[in-house]
Amino acid sequence: MPGTRNGLGHDLDPLTPETFTSAHEELRELRGRCPVAHSESFDGFWALLRHADVVDVLTQPDTFVTSVQNVVPKVAFTGRRPPLHLDPPEHTPYRQVINRFFTPARTSRMEPAVRRIAGDLLAPFIGQGGGDLCDAFTHRYPGHVFAEFFNLPADLGMEIREVTAIYNRALQEARDELVKSTSLELYSIAQRIIAMRKEDPLPEDEDLTSALLAKRWQGQPLPDDLVLGTIRQMIVVGMIAPSVFIGTMAVHLAKHPDLQQQLRDEPELIPAAIEEYLRLYTPYRGFARTANRDVEIGGRHIEADEPIALVYASANRDEAVFDEPDRFILNRPNIDRHIAFGLGPHRCAGESLARLMLQVTLEELLSRTSSMELDGELEMTRWPEWGTLSVPMRVSAA
Ligand code: HEM
Repeated sequence: MPGTRNGLGHDLDPLTPETFTSAHEELRELRGRCPVAHSESFDGFWALLRHADVVDVLTQPDTFVTSVQNVVPKVAFTGRRPPLHLDPPEHTPYRQVINRFFTPARTSRMEPAVRRIAGDLLAPFIGQGGGDLCDAFTHRYPGHVFAEFFNLPADLGMEIREVTAIYNRALQEARDELVKSTSLELYSIAQRIIAMRKEDPLPEDEDLTSALLAKRWQGQPLPDDLVLGTIRQMIVVGMIAPSVFIGTMAVHLAKHPDLQQQLRDEPELIPAAIEEYLRLYTPYRGFARTANRDVEIGGRHIEADEPIALVYASANRDEAVFDEPDRFILNRPNIDRHIAFGLGPHRCAGESLARLMLQVTLEELLSRTSSMELDGELEMTRWPEWGTLSVPMRVSAA
């Protein structure tokens, strides 16, 4: 195509400033016109917009790998971080250990702590009649939950909460220097967690770090640098999505007081509302893969090692799968086809904890208020997330 750097075209510009609705409008238009799109931004990448194409790639992990580049734009400044950056079979032992910590039984044991944390953070926000929900709550909540999940002593717990809140915000505001420096602080926190557990291990079934250190794979311990990368990955990967997504749910509820009231009256509908929100407002717009050989997708030729963004946010509104895809519909018959948590070997490890965190948040927010309204301009994230960074609200206590 004339005028483009490599002749592949620039169908999609991920750097265009966005409103709450514009990204999905653009994706809908492009999905109809050019479902296998190419962008010259971020050094060039492909974007798959159809549900069927995304699922095809996710279910062929032998061809489409994460070890070259797993996200667009490429943000990893430092070393390999399991499990996301490894392909099976190297990926397998890390998931074997991690999965043990997200069973239904383990997750429900976290519930009282998660509820206490949510309540403690929401009380002052509601008490003062609102403010920016993201500053008051969404940027802080995951760090608090993680301190609990990793069984951290008070001082380290406090540090992880502070550093993750700064890192989260810096990442979203594209402040690269601050991202790098806080990323290194997160490595140092992960290092301290490991040193602490090496010296004084906790029971293997109670503590993820102790379990990773005790794991043997083909007779060998897991390499030190990859245990470190895993802890660092866990701190961050589970933090961003809940943070941007909770603000998004709050915006939708603020715009739909009838739904707000329905969920207050029938809180047993909250899990179904969360599933539909995950489909409609998928917070990880997409992760990426590269093919280990040249491939054809939707009639376009994609060379080995070219980054391919799998646009989950578009797949989840694909009209070929979901009727009236832009509408919020409680209890859609095929809601289980949404891929907000991915699919295949890298499917979200923490989805049970994520669902618990989201459910507890909506239960506490709705039961402690009688109304919620928007009270100013929203600020939106950029690729690879989709969601809110700032949600000014006015709320009335129940
Ligand atoms: C709304 C909340 C969340 C959403 C939507 C979400 C979504 C995702 C998605 C789409 C992936 C797949 C990445 C890929 O395809 O390459 C993923 C991976 C992962 N998520 Fe989540 N996530 C959430 C919360 C969490 C939480 C709370 C944790 C807890 C620690 C977590 C831990 C992980 C881990 C460890 C992986 C990597 C899995 C692997 O590579 O094998 N996530 N997540």
